[in-house]
Formats: sequence, structure tokens, C-alpha cells
Amino acid sequence: MSTFSNPANSQLILALSKGRIFDDTMPLLASAGITVTENPETSRKLILATNDPNVRVIIVRASDVPTYVQYGAADFGVAGKDVLLEHGGEGLYQPIDLNIAKCRMSVAVNAGFDYDKAVRQGARLRVATKFVQTAREHFAAKGVHVDLIKLYGSMELAPLVGLSDAIVDVVSTGSTLRANNLVEVEEIMDISSRLVVNQAALKLKRKRLQPILDAFERASRLNN
Ligand code: ATP
Ligand code: PRP
Ligand code: MG
Repeated sequence: MSTFSNPANSQLILALSKGRIFDDTMPLLASAGITVTENPETSRKLILATNDPNVRVIIVRASDVPTYVQYGAADFGVAGKDVLLEHGGEGLYQPIDLNIAKCRMSVAVNAGFDYDKAVRQGARLRVATKFVQTAREHFAAKGVHVDLIKLYGSMELAPLVGLSDAIVDVVSTGSTLRANNLVEVEEIMDISSRLVVNQAALKLKRKRLQPILDAFERASRLNN
């Protein structure tokens, strides 16, 4: 067999999104001896080289990372728990919580809205969110009837302009909620980002992947 067609010798592709995931993954990669040699913030390139000719990084939208890894277009990637819950995790091995991009998923409402009373009275709530699966499960478990309105960003705007009674979104410092006169009324879960690995790549490229996974595992413990 030629070395070219042997998957054990082929390239590794890591899927990352620009911004906090890329930034927080760089120290983990460095711990595996890998440095990305191009800056995604200044380059328009979507395939970035590293100091290792066998490792490349692809830049995709945060919510597309699981899809690239699921179909094997990337061998591994980094994605938030929020994104993974929406995707469902099919075809993905999720070995490591990297303890990066930490935040929480919460319910928030206009400062004047009595959420607890609305829930007690069994009101039907309009909830705007990017995270419809998580929101659906959360309200179903509480026995609260909701109409979910799917948004793709700027969720905090929805209650301000009467699109919804509540939002489900990620919160970190709380400054976006405060700036928009919203209050957090319920925490749904803690969120951090995970390493996800294509299940076939894990078997076929284990020799190449394992040292990187081990380095990520060790380095991510320092983020705890
Ligand atoms: P897109 O720009 O494609 O809509 P996004 O807004 O989800 O994607 P990021 O903001 O980079 O992309 O978020 C990536 C991940 O980081 C999220 O899936 C979530 O797990 C986490 N995250 C989001 N917002 C914060 C925050 N304010 N602080 C910490 N972690 C966050
Ligand atoms: C995220 C999220 C919230 C905000 C919460 O937005 O969608 O709006 O962070 O963080 P805070 O509690 O510290 O204010 P992000 O910064 O990712 O901007 P985006 O709208 O481009 O996703
Ligand atoms: Mg964001």
C-alpha cells in the first residue's frame, strides 16, 4: 500500500471556529507541539497551516463544527456543549471536556416580567432561542408550555421588542443581559467546550491522534 492511501499516515484536520474557541484552543495545541502559522482574524483563508505539515486547521461556524467532524471532513474539532446538544452527537466521540469557553445556559426575561408567576399560573410562554432542543427539553421537564421561536443570534433583543416573553441563551459575565435590561431567572446548565473526534478517524488514525488527545487532556486539566 502506498503511504498516500494509508489513512494512518494521512493528514489530520482539526475544525475550529474563530474567536474564543480558536483562541482558547491554541494553548492546548501548543502543549501538543503544534502552532498555527496563520491568523484567522486577518487571513481570509479557511484552511490554515501549522508547523506540522500533517496537521491543518479548518475554520468553520461554531455550530458547524460537529457536522464537519461527524462526516469525517475534519478528524477532530472543538465545540461547545450547547452546540453539541443541538447537533445530537451522532458519529462523534467526545473524550475530553477542555474546560474552555465556560459559560452557562440560562432563561432570561425583561426586568419587569414576573416569570415565576407566569409559570405558576400555567401561562403559555413565547421563548426565543438558538438552542431549541435544549429549551424544549428544559421546559418539558418543568411542565411549562412554550412556543419556541428559532433565532440565530442577538437573542437578547427578542423580549425588548415583544417577539418573546423569554430567551434561552448563554450567559457569562451577565453584562449583555444587564445592558439590555434583562434578568436571568433560571440556570439550565453549565457549558464548556469539548473535544470531538470522528469515530472512524479515532480507529484509523489512532496512532497520530492519541498523542494529541493525551496532550489536550493534560493541558485542559489546568483550565479547571
Ligand atoms: P456564530 O458566531 O456562528 O453564531 P457562536 O456565537 O456560537 O457562533 P462563539 O460566540 O464563538 O460562536 O461561541 C462558541 C462557543 O463558546 C459557544 O458554543 C459556547 O459554548 C461558548 N460561548 C458563547 N458565548 C460565550 C461567552 N460569552 N463566554 C464564554 N463562552 C461562551
Ligand atoms: C455571547 C452570547 C451572549 C453573551 C453573553 O455573545 O450570545 O450574548 O456572549 O456573555 P456575557 O454574559 O459575558 O455578556 P458573543 O460575545 O459570542 O457575541 P455573538 O453575538 O457574536 O455570538
Ligand atoms: Mg457568540
